[in-house]
Amino acid sequence: MTNQKVLIIGASSTIAKALVQAYKIMGNVKVVLVSREPEVIPIRDVVYIQINDYLENTIVAAIEKIKIVDNTPFTRVFICNGLLHSDSVKPEKRIEDISAIGFQNTIWVNTVVPMIWIQKLTPILTSKIECKLVVFSARVGSIKDNKLGGWYSYRASKAALNMLLKTTAIEFARRAKNIKIIAFHPGTTDTKLSKPFQKNVPKNKLFTPEFVAQSVISVTNNMPIDGTASYIDWQGESIEW
Ligand SMILES: NC(=O)c1ccc[n+]([C@@H]2O[C@H](COP(=O)([O-])OP(=O)(O)OC[C@H]3O[C@@H](n4cnc5c(N)ncnc54)[C@H](OP(=O)(O)O)[C@@H]3O)[C@@H](O)[C@H]2O)c1
Repeated sequence: MTNQKVLIIGASSTIAKALVQAYKIMGNVKVVLVSREPEVIPIRDVVYIQINDYLENTIVAAIEKIKIVDNTPFTRVFICNGLLHSDSVKPEKRIEDISAIGFQNTIWVNTVVPMIWIQKLTPILTSKIECKLVVFSARVGSIKDNKLGGWYSYRASKAALNMLLKTTAIEFARRAKNIKIIAFHPGTTDTKLSKPFQKNVPKNKLFTPEFVAQSVISVTNNMPIDGTASYIDWQGESIEW
């Protein structure tokens, strides 16, 4: 596919890095990256915007820089930010493990940050050019699918993200008809996010970031602009909300 312009937010994500490589191999794709991490290896023709944090003012300032890259509209946006564990956040096994600060940190990264980006990007994404807006969700955010329990904050933050995306798609059907919102579940992928939890994952169910990058690109390419949000997995199959 030619004449694509792609924005990848949270570009230090292992899946995001594989996406960048996949788009660069295609050629004819303009790629703009945003991350808190410094650009480790400059990639030719890729615009890299480093930010200090994901506060609202920082996002607004980053978008001003994005706007001066050139004024052609984006055809794809990927929001890759996600937090499952950190030095201070551990996914909860039981109700006693829930902490206010852990919940706040998780919901900030997984839910609030993507929504601030969507809010601030809406004016530059709204046009006559089709744009697929992909936000990395997770199957554990499905309320219907929750049979195992655990991971209270991560689950809740992705469920809240899904609700916000569905609500945004209803508004976009009226005022930004060119934008298709996709809540994407990559499957368990070999990244730092899943590392501590890979022990019980069968080898054929632990995907490489390269495989997931190809899958999100092809699944996204095949989704019509239909005024609804889609919650789909790496195979392009719908997940019940
Ligand atoms: N790996 C899996 O098995 C799996 C499964 C289901 C869903 N997912 C989802 O897929 C997405 C990508 O995951 P990944 O495995 O590639 O993750 P990863 O390699 O651990 O990357 C972490 C991502 O989260 C951002 N991030 C981390 N801490 C942050 C903070 N405090 N504030 C704002 N952003 C923060 C990073 O942004 P910077 O670039 O700014 O550092 C980066 O985009 C996530 O949304 C994740 O929930 C992953």
